[in-house]
Amino acid sequence: MVNHHFPIVSGILVVLAALAAPANAAQAVPSPSTPAESGAKLLVCNACHGDNGVPKDATIPIIWGQQENFLIKQLHDFQSGDRDSEVMSWMVKTLSQAEQGAAAAYFAKKNWPARYAGAAATPPPNGIAACQICHQQDFVGGLPGPRLAGQSYEYLVEAMRRYAGGERTNNADMVKLMEALPSAERDAMARYMSGL
Ligand code: HEC
Ligand code: HEC
Repeated sequence: MVNHHFPIVSGILVVLAALAAPANAAQAVPSPSTPAESGAKLLVCNACHGDNGVPKDATIPIIWGQQENFLIKQLHDFQSGDRDSEVMSWMVKTLSQAEQGAAAAYFAKKNWPARYAGAAATPPPNGIAACQICHQQDFVGGLPGPRLAGQSYEYLVEAMRRYAGGERTNNADMVKLMEALPSAERDAMARYMSGL
C-alpha cells in the first residue's frame, strides 16, 4: 500500500513542507490557522481521495458525501491509533482538532460521485438484510452506519477482511459480524454494495 502510493506520498511531502514553512515563521505570534491555510491542507486530501470525489485508485475510499459523524470518528481513530493506517495516521496529524471537524463537514457536504464504471448490479446476497439495520435499506448510510452504496468493491472487501481478521477493531459490532461471515459471503456482499 505504502510503496504503491509512493509517488503520491512524496509529492505530498513537498506540499506539506511548503505549508509548514510559513507556519513555523509565524510561531512568535500564536494564532489559529487562517481559513486559507486550512483550505490548502484539504487540497492535499485530493491527491488520493480525488479532486472530483473519485479516489485515485479503488483501494482508497470515497469520502465525498459520506456521513459527517462517521468521517469525524475515523479521523479521530486514525489519530488515536484505534484504526491503523500508516498514511492516514500521518495525514491526520497535519490537522488540528478544529480542522478535522472542518474537513469532515467539508467532505460530507460534497456530492457522492457517480459510481465506478465496472461495478455491475448483482442480486442481493443472503444475509444482506442484517446489514441494512444499520447501513439503511439502500446502503446510503445514516446513523449509525456509514454509506457503503457505490463504494468500490476493492475497498469494501478489504475493509470487511480487516474487521474479520482483527486488524481493524475500531467498532466491536463490525468485528463480531465479520468474524461470523465466511469470506465468500463477504465477497458477495461487497460486490452487491459496490454495484448499488
Ligand atoms: C496518500 C494518500 C492519501 C491522502 C493524501 C489522504 N488519504 Fe484519506 N485515506 C487513504 C487511504 C489509503 C485510506 C484507507 C485507509 C485504510 O482503510 O487502511 C483513507 C481513508 C480515509 C478516511 C476513512 C474513510 C472510510 O470510509 O473509512 C477518511 C475520513 C480520510 N481518509 C480522510 C482524509 C482527509 C481529510 C485527508 C486530507 C487531510 C486525506 N484523507 C488524505 C489515503 C489518503
Ligand atoms: C449494529 C450496526 C451495524 C450492522 C448490523 C452492520 N454494520 Fe457495518 N458498520 C457499522 C458502523 C457503526 C460502522 C463504522 C465503524 C467505524 O467506526 O469504523 C460500520 C462500518 C462498516 C464498513 C466499513 C466502511 C468504511 O467506509 O470503512 C463496512 C464495509 C461495513 N460496515 C459492512 C457491513 C456489512 C456487510 C454488514 C452486514 C453483514 C454490516 N456492515 C452490518 C454498523 C453496522
